[in-house]
Amino acid sequence: MAFPEHFLWGGATAANQLEGAYLEGGKGLSIADVMTCGGKSRFKVDLPAIKPEYQKFLSKMRYVTFEKDGQDGACIAFKQNTYPDHGTPKIVEGEYYPNHEAIDFYHHYKEDIALMAEMGFKAYRMSIAWSRIYPNGDDDAPNEEGLAFYDRVFDELLKYGIEPIVTLSHYEMPLALSMKYQGFANRKLVDIFYKYCATVFERYAGKVKYWLTFNEINSIIHSSYVNAGVFANDRQLSEYASYHQMLASAKVCQLAHEKYPHFKIGCMISSSIPYAYTCKPEDNLEALKSYDLRVNYYSDTMVRGYLPEYKIKDLERRGIKLPIMEEDRAILEKGTVDFISISYYQTSIAAASDDGLKMAEGNMIRHIANPHLKTSEWGWSIDPVGLRYTLNYLYDRYHKPIMIVENGLGAFDTLNEDKTVHDAYRISYLQEHLSEVKKAIEIDGVDVMGYTSWGCIDLVSCSSGQMSKRYGFVYVDRDDDGNGTLARYPKDSFYWYQHIIETNGEEL
Ligand code: BG6
Repeated sequence: MAFPEHFLWGGATAANQLEGAYLEGGKGLSIADVMTCGGKSRFKVDLPAIKPEYQKFLSKMRYVTFEKDGQDGACIAFKQNTYPDHGTPKIVEGEYYPNHEAIDFYHHYKEDIALMAEMGFKAYRMSIAWSRIYPNGDDDAPNEEGLAFYDRVFDELLKYGIEPIVTLSHYEMPLALSMKYQGFANRKLVDIFYKYCATVFERYAGKVKYWLTFNEINSIIHSSYVNAGVFANDRQLSEYASYHQMLASAKVCQLAHEKYPHFKIGCMISSSIPYAYTCKPEDNLEALKSYDLRVNYYSDTMVRGYLPEYKIKDLERRGIKLPIMEEDRAILEKGTVDFISISYYQTSIAAASDDGLKMAEGNMIRHIANPHLKTSEWGWSIDPVGLRYTLNYLYDRYHKPIMIVENGLGAFDTLNEDKTVHDAYRISYLQEHLSEVKKAIEIDGVDVMGYTSWGCIDLVSCSSGQMSKRYGFVYVDRDDDGNGTLARYPKDSFYWYQHIIETNGEEL
């Protein structure tokens, strides 16, 4: 048998992309609550407000600018697709915010969990909306109604024997923390996050065993606001923010290990591995360096417990001095993670020079197009073999168990009159990726603990704000304008995945 007996088969979501009820139950505003849907934004793309080095590849891309107090802000993150997308500093009347209602999981969670159970899920990766627990982030006491909501969700999951895997911070910090402190750029956030984690650890210790600290911690490279609440376009502040996040993650790991020995804590990285464009040594060196700085820096620090030398040198060259305090070394050393979790969607290409090379269109991070790979309708390269490569790379580097907590195909689906959705394209995508996971386990001996496919039920897209970019096994009747009954319909992939789980991946 390739997949271990207790392999964690399941699906993944994030609170801000599916819960809705953005102000119910005492919840405060989060940074995700002020993200508009690009297609509906009344703001215009304002190229002059964007840094010149980014302007050249903005055509056909969706991106976020942030406006504070009416002023044009800097470009803080790219969004893909053809629509402009904006974060607003507060709720603006007449603006459309798709996350406010999302798919209303807040009121449909029983129905949704029943569908997950019907597919045979062993695990469900979800996040806690921090602003349900501490509406402003720095409140003295937690919000009981928010805590009680997740009690109900966990109880419902456990009723079906589904293991919750909980992300503590998935692009949804309380908005007030961003406004007041510039998010994680401020060291105060380390303690504020720690307090929030201590609260939920204590409350759910009997219900949740697997925790992830920060979703795609390395995505700060292209979106410091979404990732860490840093609204200024400032590389130094971004570096501070990720340093503080890693410190916070280490403190939380240490707390878990000391007080809750049954917990397993993981880091979560976005694992887009760069291939060298050619076999030229210079291209290979570039691939190595770009992987180090974009991905390995984060996992190296959280898995090994210290800042890697290549990053220290990189910061020195850029004249950035991290705000390191004396006690930090011990914090990082003691707070290493138990396992590594990854999102995997695509791979990239690195070359010593990209002059004259064809660029990939639509990917979140600007990179060279790979002529050997097809792309999704949103321009993301599709590379199943890259997943096996990534799993091998990570296992060789760290020898820690790996959980794949995001992977999937965003695609347009058609709901037929008889309420069926024939998503053969999604089935082939997942089939091909899972076959590579199987090989990584069976042939290469990689320790993979679980696979939770992204957006197991349709939800709001993070990068485009669209509902029409669908990942789910379950179709949700809602469109990009917020119309629809919110009724749920299993797609063909629902039954396919059910069979894969039932047979523990034997037929892949
Ligand atoms: C990951 C995020 O980057 O990709 C998710 O953790 C996101 O929140 C997912 O939804 C897919 O991206 P998108 O933009 O298609 O929703």
